Amino acid sequence: MKVLLLGSGGRESALAYKLRKSSLLKGLKVFPGNGGFPQKEILPKDSFNLKDKLSTVSFIQKEKFDLVVVGPEEPLVDGIADWLDEVGIPCFGPSKYCAQLEGSKDFAKTLMKEFGVPTARYETFNDYESAKSYLEKEGVPIVIKADGLAAGKGVTVCFQMQEALQALKEIFLDNKFGASGSKVVIEEFMQGEEASIFAICDGANFIILPALQDHKRAFDGDQGPNTGGMGAYCPAPVATEKVYEQVRKEVFQPMLDGLKKKGFPYKGLLYAGLMVDKSGYARVVEFNCRFGDPETQSLMLLIEDDLLEIFMQAANGNLKKNEISLRSGSSCIIVLAAKGYPNDYVKNIELNLKESNSKDVKVFHAGTAIKEEKLISTGGRILGISSYSSNLRSAIENAYSYLRENPQADSFYRSDIGHRAL
Ligand code: AMP
Ligand code: GLY
Repeated sequence: MKVLLLGSGGRESALAYKLRKSSLLKGLKVFPGNGGFPQKEILPKDSFNLKDKLSTVSFIQKEKFDLVVVGPEEPLVDGIADWLDEVGIPCFGPSKYCAQLEGSKDFAKTLMKEFGVPTARYETFNDYESAKSYLEKEGVPIVIKADGLAAGKGVTVCFQMQEALQALKEIFLDNKFGASGSKVVIEEFMQGEEASIFAICDGANFIILPALQDHKRAFDGDQGPNTGGMGAYCPAPVATEKVYEQVRKEVFQPMLDGLKKKGFPYKGLLYAGLMVDKSGYARVVEFNCRFGDPETQSLMLLIEDDLLEIFMQAANGNLKKNEISLRSGSSCIIVLAAKGYPNDYVKNIELNLKESNSKDVKVFHAGTAIKEEKLISTGGRILGISSYSSNLRSAIENAYSYLRENPQADSFYRSDIGHRAL
């Protein structure tokens, strides 16, 4: 199979690592890729314009790809799966309609309510004044969310009324998120421990993957600003058998059934961000329509099955099994970020990397590029060090050993990834 992988982050590096292991793979191409991909896999920058249907579809048809795997949410929200469906090219990723589960918080909440999926109580507002009076009535703690895609920055968890009013003002009056802020979801603050559970879906059936825990704050002890994610580990023990069972029955099954009934079967990866309360009951914080980053960099070290085969089956609406085979141990990923991330960060850091000596420690590139034959940083999250071992403690230790032995200038990482599970 000739496969096109779209995206440029650590997630795509990890997906590519796993896809390359498939005996079904005849050729892998990536667009736009990063400095970690072999040159022969990277398509030229001017190959096509992902924002343009005609340019994208005609390139993919001309090159005769058998499957397109979409890493990030934006092309899915723009409708790439529908464009490919029209010309009969299998795509691992949901339709434009289904991708609204990530593209619009209001859409996601409305469907959850309709299908009876457990989530926080909420209201949606189109203007500042009515949002403000609801907020004043509800009080804090409370969570304020810009409706549309906001690069992970549209959510404010508010413990002070002042903070909440400021968040509302920024969205409605200062237009901080442009069109993504034309609506606001205000929701109940949920207490508990977070976990992410992904399911590979074929429109009717799904395969649940082992739960992960991300670390969203920039610094140790969950301090500092929210980021895209600074590290993760898998499986996360907060997801007990009871949680998997509940999430299967109360989250994935009703979402898939409900969407299918509406005539929009969900195909691709459905990401459920969960809050598990003290009693072990999970409620949905958010849905994403794609694999998590950095969670995928941990997950890919645990999956034994041929993922290409499964992606193809899902894209064709024809999953052949309902469980994934896994290696028995644990895995983790530690993100190396540029100084300043997630705010203004240092760029063009010259990187000096060695391959890891251990076959169970992988260095996945994220924000990197090759410039004048040198490897440099281009993004806030530069690398992910992923590690597998028979137990979580040694997986984590091995990832940190690599980072200590390969220090990089102008960068930082969290030193407490996995702390809740150790
Ligand atoms: P989201 O972009 O929706 O994942 O939100 C980003 C982060 O905000 C989540 O990972 C949670 O840590 C937090 N969050 C979002 N919604 C809630 C909520 N209703 N209660 C508590 N924390 C929340
Ligand atoms: N790591 C969180 C996300 O991918 O949305």
